[in-house]
Amino acid sequence: MYNSKISGLGFYVPDNVVTNEDLSKIMDTSDEWIQERTGIKQRHWIKEGSNETSATMGARAAEIAIERAGLDKDDIDFIIFATLSPDFYFPGCGVQIQEMLEMRTIGALDIRNQCSGFVYALSTGDQFIKTGMYKNILVIGSEYHSNGLDKTTRGRGVSVIFGDGAGACVLSRTEDNQKGILSSHLHSEGKYADKLIVESPSIKHWVPEILNSKEEDLSYFPYMDGTFVFKNAVVRFSEVIMEALSVNKIGPDDIDLFIPHQANLRISQFIQQKFKLRDDQVYNNITNYGNTTAASIVIALTEAWEKGKVKEDDIVLLAAFGSGFTWGSVLLRW
Ligand code: UT7
Repeated sequence: MYNSKISGLGFYVPDNVVTNEDLSKIMDTSDEWIQERTGIKQRHWIKEGSNETSATMGARAAEIAIERAGLDKDDIDFIIFATLSPDFYFPGCGVQIQEMLEMRTIGALDIRNQCSGFVYALSTGDQFIKTGMYKNILVIGSEYHSNGLDKTTRGRGVSVIFGDGAGACVLSRTEDNQKGILSSHLHSEGKYADKLIVESPSIKHWVPEILNSKEEDLSYFPYMDGTFVFKNAVVRFSEVIMEALSVNKIGPDDIDLFIPHQANLRISQFIQQKFKLRDDQVYNNITNYGNTTAASIVIALTEAWEKGKVKEDDIVLLAAFGSGFTWGSVLLRW
Protein backbone atom coordinates (compact mmCIF):
# COMPACT_ATOMS: atom_id res chain seq x y z
CA MET A 1 0.00 0.00 0.00
CA TYR A 2 1.07 3.53 -0.74
CA ASN A 3 0.64 6.68 1.37
CA SER A 4 -0.56 10.03 0.11
CA LYS A 5 1.11 13.34 0.91
CA ILE A 6 0.23 16.90 0.09
CA SER A 7 2.66 17.98 -2.63
CA GLY A 8 1.24 21.40 -3.48
CA LEU A 9 -1.12 23.98 -1.97
CA GLY A 10 -2.85 27.12 -3.21
CA PHE A 11 -5.69 29.44 -2.36
CA TYR A 12 -7.66 32.22 -3.97
CA VAL A 13 -10.08 34.72 -2.48
CA PRO A 14 -11.94 37.48 -4.33
CA ASP A 15 -10.45 41.00 -4.01
CA ASN A 16 -13.56 42.56 -2.49
CA VAL A 17 -13.14 42.85 1.30
CA VAL A 18 -16.28 43.39 3.39
CA THR A 19 -15.63 44.59 6.92
CA ASN A 20 -17.96 44.31 9.90
CA GLU A 21 -18.37 48.06 9.63
CA ASP A 22 -19.59 47.62 6.02
CA LEU A 23 -22.18 45.07 7.21
CA SER A 24 -23.42 47.39 9.93
CA LYS A 25 -24.49 49.78 7.14
CA ILE A 26 -26.82 47.22 5.54
CA MET A 27 -28.18 45.40 8.62
CA ASP A 28 -28.56 45.88 12.36
CA THR A 29 -25.23 44.51 13.53
CA SER A 30 -21.94 45.85 14.88
CA ASP A 31 -18.23 45.21 14.69
CA GLU A 32 -18.30 44.64 18.44
CA TRP A 33 -21.02 41.92 18.29
CA ILE A 34 -19.41 40.07 15.39
CA GLN A 35 -15.89 40.14 16.85
CA GLU A 36 -17.02 39.19 20.33
CA ARG A 37 -19.16 36.20 19.21
CA THR A 38 -17.12 34.96 16.24
CA GLY A 39 -13.67 36.60 16.11
CA ILE A 40 -14.36 37.74 12.53
CA LYS A 41 -13.21 41.21 11.41
CA GLN A 42 -13.69 40.91 7.66
CA ARG A 43 -14.52 38.46 4.90
CA HIS A 44 -14.09 38.43 1.09
CA TRP A 45 -17.29 38.54 -0.94
CA ILE A 46 -17.44 38.27 -4.72
CA LYS A 47 -18.54 41.65 -6.08
CA GLU A 48 -22.00 41.80 -7.58
CA GLY A 49 -21.81 41.52 -11.35
CA SER A 50 -18.52 39.61 -11.29
CA ASN A 51 -18.19 36.38 -13.26
CA GLU A 52 -16.47 34.61 -10.37
CA THR A 53 -18.06 31.45 -8.97
CA SER A 54 -17.08 28.47 -6.82
CA ALA A 55 -15.70 26.75 -9.93
CA THR A 56 -13.66 29.71 -11.20
CA MET A 57 -12.17 30.39 -7.75
CA GLY A 58 -11.43 26.67 -7.38
CA ALA A 59 -9.66 26.70 -10.74
CA ARG A 60 -7.44 29.63 -9.68
CA ALA A 61 -6.47 27.89 -6.43
CA ALA A 62 -5.89 24.60 -8.29
CA GLU A 63 -3.49 26.16 -10.80
CA ILE A 64 -1.34 27.45 -7.95
CA ALA A 65 -1.40 24.09 -6.14
CA ILE A 66 -0.43 22.14 -9.29
CA GLU A 67 2.43 24.52 -10.06
CA ARG A 68 3.74 24.35 -6.47
CA ALA A 69 3.60 20.55 -6.63
CA GLY A 70 6.01 20.84 -9.58
CA LEU A 71 3.48 19.08 -11.77
CA ASP A 72 1.67 19.73 -15.00
CA LYS A 73 -2.13 19.54 -15.28
CA ASP A 74 -1.66 16.39 -17.37
CA ASP A 75 -0.04 14.68 -14.35
CA ILE A 76 -3.34 14.91 -12.42
CA ASP A 77 -5.28 11.63 -12.45
CA PHE A 78 -8.49 12.64 -10.67
CA ILE A 79 -10.38 15.69 -9.37
CA ILE A 80 -12.29 15.94 -6.10
CA PHE A 81 -14.28 19.12 -5.53
CA ALA A 82 -15.92 19.90 -2.18
CA THR A 83 -18.56 22.63 -2.04
CA LEU A 84 -22.03 23.43 -0.76
CA SER A 85 -22.37 26.27 -3.25
CA PRO A 86 -21.91 24.66 -6.67
CA ASP A 87 -22.37 26.74 -9.82
CA PHE A 88 -25.18 24.44 -10.96
CA TYR A 89 -27.68 22.15 -9.30
CA PHE A 90 -26.05 19.67 -11.67
CA PRO A 91 -23.46 18.90 -13.04
CA GLY A 92 -21.00 19.42 -10.20
CA CYS A 93 -18.01 21.78 -10.12
CA GLY A 94 -15.47 18.96 -10.61
CA VAL A 95 -16.25 18.63 -14.31
CA GLN A 96 -16.00 22.40 -14.70
CA ILE A 97 -12.44 22.22 -13.38
CA GLN A 98 -11.62 19.52 -15.92
CA GLU A 99 -12.82 21.89 -18.65
CA MET A 100 -11.44 25.17 -17.23
CA LEU A 101 -7.94 23.75 -16.74
CA GLU A 102 -8.12 21.90 -20.08
CA MET A 103 -7.27 18.62 -18.40
CA ARG A 104 -7.39 15.11 -19.81
CA THR A 105 -10.77 13.37 -19.56
CA ILE A 106 -9.98 12.22 -16.03
CA GLY A 107 -12.65 11.43 -13.44
CA ALA A 108 -14.20 14.21 -11.40
CA LEU A 109 -16.11 13.79 -8.16
CA ASP A 110 -18.09 16.34 -6.15
CA ILE A 111 -18.31 16.06 -2.38
CA ARG A 112 -21.36 17.51 -0.62
CA ASN A 113 -20.30 17.56 3.01
CA GLN A 114 -20.37 21.27 3.77
CA CYS A 115 -17.89 22.34 6.48
CA SER A 116 -16.43 18.83 6.64
CA GLY A 117 -16.16 18.74 2.85
CA PHE A 118 -12.41 19.19 2.64
CA VAL A 119 -11.70 16.56 5.30
CA TYR A 120 -14.03 14.12 3.51
CA ALA A 121 -12.39 15.01 0.16
CA LEU A 122 -8.86 14.44 1.50
CA SER A 123 -9.87 11.13 3.02
CA THR A 124 -11.51 10.03 -0.25
CA GLY A 125 -8.44 10.98 -2.26
CA ASP A 126 -6.25 9.13 0.23
CA GLN A 127 -8.15 5.89 -0.39
CA PHE A 128 -7.65 6.12 -4.18
CA ILE A 129 -3.93 6.68 -3.68
CA LYS A 130 -3.49 3.98 -1.03
CA THR A 131 -4.95 1.33 -3.33
CA GLY A 132 -2.62 2.39 -6.16
CA MET A 133 -5.43 3.49 -8.45
CA TYR A 134 -4.19 7.09 -8.81
CA LYS A 135 -0.86 8.92 -8.33
CA ASN A 136 -1.85 12.58 -8.19
CA ILE A 137 -5.26 13.87 -7.16
CA LEU A 138 -6.41 17.48 -7.22
CA VAL A 139 -8.51 18.23 -4.13
CA ILE A 140 -10.42 21.51 -4.07
CA GLY A 141 -12.66 23.21 -1.50
CA SER A 142 -14.48 26.31 -2.73
CA GLU A 143 -17.49 28.37 -1.68
CA TYR A 144 -19.46 31.25 -3.12
CA HIS A 145 -21.69 32.06 -0.15
CA SER A 146 -22.33 35.74 -0.54
CA ASN A 147 -24.88 35.49 -3.35
CA GLY A 148 -27.09 33.16 -1.30
CA LEU A 149 -27.17 34.97 2.05
CA ASP A 150 -30.00 36.97 3.56
CA LYS A 151 -28.13 40.26 3.96
CA THR A 152 -30.85 41.94 5.98
CA THR A 153 -31.24 42.14 9.75
CA ARG A 154 -33.47 39.05 9.49
CA GLY A 155 -30.50 36.97 8.29
CA ARG A 156 -27.75 38.54 10.41
CA GLY A 157 -27.25 35.48 12.63
CA VAL A 158 -25.92 33.61 9.59
CA SER A 159 -24.81 36.11 6.97
CA VAL A 160 -22.11 37.87 9.00
CA ILE A 161 -20.23 34.60 9.45
CA PHE A 162 -19.70 33.37 5.91
CA GLY A 163 -17.06 34.33 3.37
CA ASP A 164 -16.19 33.39 -0.23
CA GLY A 165 -12.96 31.70 -1.27
CA ALA A 166 -11.22 28.60 -2.51
CA GLY A 167 -8.28 26.43 -1.61
CA ALA A 168 -6.71 23.45 -3.34
CA CYS A 169 -4.07 20.83 -2.81
CA VAL A 170 -2.46 18.09 -4.82
CA LEU A 171 -2.39 14.75 -3.07
CA SER A 172 0.46 12.62 -4.38
CA ARG A 173 1.61 9.04 -3.95
CA THR A 174 4.57 8.42 -1.65
CA GLU A 175 6.23 5.10 -0.88
CA ASP A 176 7.38 6.39 2.51
CA ASN A 177 4.72 4.96 4.83
CA GLN A 178 5.78 7.25 7.70
CA LYS A 179 4.79 10.34 5.68
CA GLY A 180 1.56 11.91 4.49
CA ILE A 181 -1.92 11.03 5.69
CA LEU A 182 -1.62 8.71 8.70
CA SER A 183 -5.34 8.36 9.38
CA SER A 184 -8.72 9.88 8.66
CA HIS A 185 -11.96 9.58 10.62
CA LEU A 186 -15.38 10.48 9.23
CA HIS A 187 -18.77 10.72 10.96
CA SER A 188 -22.34 11.88 10.42
CA GLU A 189 -25.60 12.27 12.31
CA GLY A 190 -28.43 13.02 9.88
CA LYS A 191 -31.07 13.53 12.52
CA TYR A 192 -29.80 17.09 12.88
CA ALA A 193 -29.89 17.88 9.15
CA ASP A 194 -32.47 20.60 9.75
CA LYS A 195 -30.28 22.48 12.26
CA LEU A 196 -28.06 23.90 9.52
CA ILE A 197 -29.67 23.74 6.13
CA VAL A 198 -30.58 25.41 2.87
CA GLU A 199 -33.84 23.67 2.08
CA SER A 200 -34.69 25.03 -1.34
CA PRO A 201 -34.74 24.90 -4.24
CA SER A 202 -34.88 21.15 -4.00
CA ILE A 203 -36.80 18.46 -5.82
CA LYS A 204 -39.22 18.57 -2.87
CA HIS A 205 -39.65 22.31 -3.06
CA TRP A 206 -38.98 23.51 -6.59
CA VAL A 207 -38.70 27.01 -8.05
CA PRO A 208 -42.34 27.56 -9.20
CA GLU A 209 -43.52 26.57 -5.76
CA ILE A 210 -41.16 29.08 -4.15
CA LEU A 211 -42.18 31.85 -6.54
CA ASN A 212 -45.86 31.18 -5.85
CA SER A 213 -45.40 30.98 -2.12
CA LYS A 214 -45.84 33.84 0.27
CA GLU A 215 -42.98 36.22 0.94
CA GLU A 216 -42.28 34.58 4.29
CA ASP A 217 -40.98 31.46 2.55
CA LEU A 218 -37.30 31.79 3.49
CA SER A 219 -36.38 28.21 2.68
CA TYR A 220 -33.85 29.29 0.04
CA PHE A 221 -31.74 31.12 2.64
CA PRO A 222 -29.38 29.21 4.94
CA TYR A 223 -30.97 28.43 8.30
CA MET A 224 -28.81 27.74 11.35
CA ASP A 225 -29.72 27.03 14.95
CA GLY A 226 -26.42 28.63 15.96
CA THR A 227 -26.40 27.76 19.63
CA PHE A 228 -27.32 24.12 19.00
CA VAL A 229 -24.68 23.82 16.26
CA PHE A 230 -22.08 25.43 18.53
CA LYS A 231 -22.78 22.98 21.38
CA ASN A 232 -22.59 19.95 19.10
CA ALA A 233 -19.48 21.29 17.35
CA VAL A 234 -17.37 21.46 20.51
CA VAL A 235 -18.36 17.91 21.51
CA ARG A 236 -17.82 16.33 18.08
CA PHE A 237 -14.58 18.24 17.42
CA SER A 238 -13.22 16.89 20.70
CA GLU A 239 -14.31 13.32 19.99
CA VAL A 240 -12.84 13.16 16.52
CA ILE A 241 -9.55 14.70 17.68
CA MET A 242 -9.36 12.12 20.48
CA GLU A 243 -10.04 9.41 17.91
CA ALA A 244 -7.14 10.59 15.71
CA LEU A 245 -4.77 10.87 18.68
CA SER A 246 -5.68 7.48 20.08
CA VAL A 247 -5.49 5.58 16.74
CA ASN A 248 -2.03 7.07 16.14
CA LYS A 249 -0.97 6.58 19.78
CA ILE A 250 0.06 10.20 20.24
CA GLY A 251 -0.94 12.98 22.64
CA PRO A 252 -1.79 16.68 22.19
CA ASP A 253 1.89 17.58 22.83
CA ASP A 254 2.86 15.69 19.69
CA ILE A 255 0.75 17.93 17.46
CA ASP A 256 2.93 20.50 15.70
CA LEU A 257 0.02 22.24 14.01
CA PHE A 258 -3.73 21.93 14.51
CA ILE A 259 -5.93 23.54 11.88
CA PRO A 260 -9.60 23.46 12.84
CA HIS A 261 -12.34 24.26 10.36
CA GLN A 262 -12.78 28.02 10.70
CA ALA A 263 -16.39 28.04 11.91
CA ASN A 264 -16.07 30.43 14.81
CA LEU A 265 -12.91 31.55 16.63
CA ARG A 266 -14.66 30.80 19.94
CA ILE A 267 -15.06 27.13 18.94
CA SER A 268 -11.36 26.93 17.99
CA GLN A 269 -10.35 28.55 21.28
CA PHE A 270 -12.55 26.18 23.26
CA ILE A 271 -10.87 23.18 21.60
CA GLN A 272 -7.42 24.68 22.08
CA GLN A 273 -8.05 25.09 25.81
CA LYS A 274 -9.60 21.65 26.15
CA PHE A 275 -6.51 19.97 24.67
CA LYS A 276 -4.17 22.47 26.36
CA LEU A 277 -2.55 23.41 23.06
CA ARG A 278 -0.12 26.34 22.94
CA ASP A 279 -0.86 29.23 20.58
CA ASP A 280 1.95 28.15 18.25
CA GLN A 281 0.28 24.72 17.86
CA VAL A 282 -2.95 26.18 16.42
CA TYR A 283 -3.54 28.15 13.23
CA ASN A 284 -6.66 30.30 12.81
CA ASN A 285 -7.42 32.87 10.11
CA ILE A 286 -11.20 33.30 10.43
CA THR A 287 -10.54 36.91 11.48
CA ASN A 288 -9.69 37.79 7.88
CA TYR A 289 -11.82 35.39 5.82
CA GLY A 290 -14.91 34.45 7.84
CA ASN A 291 -16.19 30.91 7.55
CA THR A 292 -15.48 29.65 4.03
CA THR A 293 -16.94 26.20 4.75
CA ALA A 294 -15.31 23.53 2.52
CA ALA A 295 -12.49 25.94 1.69
CA SER A 296 -11.62 27.04 5.22
CA ILE A 297 -9.15 24.32 6.24
CA VAL A 298 -7.27 24.30 2.95
CA ILE A 299 -7.06 28.11 2.84
CA ALA A 300 -5.69 28.09 6.42
CA LEU A 301 -3.29 25.23 5.67
CA THR A 302 -1.98 27.03 2.59
CA GLU A 303 -1.52 30.27 4.50
CA ALA A 304 0.23 28.48 7.39
CA TRP A 305 2.51 26.69 4.90
CA GLU A 306 3.28 29.99 3.12
CA LYS A 307 4.28 31.49 6.48
CA GLY A 308 6.69 28.61 7.15
CA LYS A 309 4.55 27.17 9.94
CA VAL A 310 4.42 23.68 8.38
CA LYS A 311 7.79 21.95 8.24
CA GLU A 312 9.10 18.58 7.14
CA ASP A 313 8.07 15.79 9.54
CA ASP A 314 5.56 18.00 11.40
CA ILE A 315 2.45 16.29 12.72
CA VAL A 316 -0.51 18.24 11.34
CA LEU A 317 -4.06 17.68 12.54
CA LEU A 318 -7.09 18.87 10.56
CA ALA A 319 -10.61 18.64 12.01
CA ALA A 320 -14.03 19.86 10.95
CA PHE A 321 -17.67 19.89 11.97
CA GLY A 322 -20.70 21.20 10.13
CA SER A 323 -24.05 20.78 8.45
CA GLY A 324 -25.37 17.25 8.21
CA PHE A 325 -24.23 17.00 10.90
CA THR A 326 -20.94 15.73 9.52
CA TRP A 327 -17.54 15.83 11.16
CA GLY A 328 -14.11 14.34 10.68
CA SER A 329 -10.36 14.60 11.12
CA VAL A 330 -7.21 13.90 9.15
CA LEU A 331 -3.80 13.43 10.76
CA LEU A 332 -0.70 13.86 8.60
CA ARG A 333 3.04 13.77 8.93
CA TRP A 334 4.37 16.47 6.59
O1 UT7 B 1 -19.40 26.13 10.04
C1 UT7 B 1 -20.47 25.28 10.29
C2 UT7 B 1 -20.78 25.18 11.69
N1 UT7 B 1 -21.24 26.46 12.19
C3 UT7 B 1 -20.93 26.78 13.41
O2 UT7 B 1 -20.20 26.07 14.06
C4 UT7 B 1 -21.56 28.03 14.00
C5 UT7 B 1 -21.94 27.75 15.42
N2 UT7 B 1 -22.66 28.85 16.05
C6 UT7 B 1 -22.14 30.05 16.28
O3 UT7 B 1 -21.02 30.33 15.88
C7 UT7 B 1 -22.93 31.05 17.10
O4 UT7 B 1 -24.09 30.41 17.59
C8 UT7 B 1 -23.33 32.33 16.32
C9 UT7 B 1 -22.10 33.19 16.11
C10 UT7 B 1 -23.95 31.98 15.00
C11 UT7 B 1 -24.34 33.14 17.12
O5 UT7 B 1 -23.83 33.46 18.39
P1 UT7 B 1 -24.68 33.21 19.69
O6 UT7 B 1 -23.87 33.66 20.81
O7 UT7 B 1 -25.16 31.77 19.69
O8 UT7 B 1 -25.88 34.23 19.48
P2 UT7 B 1 -27.45 33.94 19.41
O9 UT7 B 1 -27.82 33.33 18.11
O10 UT7 B 1 -27.89 33.25 20.66
O11 UT7 B 1 -28.02 35.41 19.42
C12 UT7 B 1 -27.84 36.26 20.56
C13 UT7 B 1 -28.46 37.62 20.25
C14 UT7 B 1 -29.89 37.51 19.71
O12 UT7 B 1 -30.60 38.62 20.20
P3 UT7 B 1 -31.58 38.47 21.47
O13 UT7 B 1 -32.59 37.43 21.07
O14 UT7 B 1 -30.70 38.01 22.60
O15 UT7 B 1 -32.12 39.82 21.64
C15 UT7 B 1 -29.71 37.67 18.22
O16 UT7 B 1 -30.86 38.21 17.59
O17 UT7 B 1 -27.71 38.27 19.23
C16 UT7 B 1 -28.57 38.64 18.16
N3 UT7 B 1 -27.81 38.55 16.92
C17 UT7 B 1 -27.07 39.57 16.44
N4 UT7 B 1 -26.86 40.81 16.89
C18 UT7 B 1 -26.03 41.60 16.18
C19 UT7 B 1 -27.69 37.50 16.08
N5 UT7 B 1 -26.87 37.81 15.07
C20 UT7 B 1 -26.47 39.09 15.27
C21 UT7 B 1 -25.63 39.96 14.56
N6 UT7 B 1 -25.44 41.20 15.05
N7 UT7 B 1 -25.00 39.61 13.42
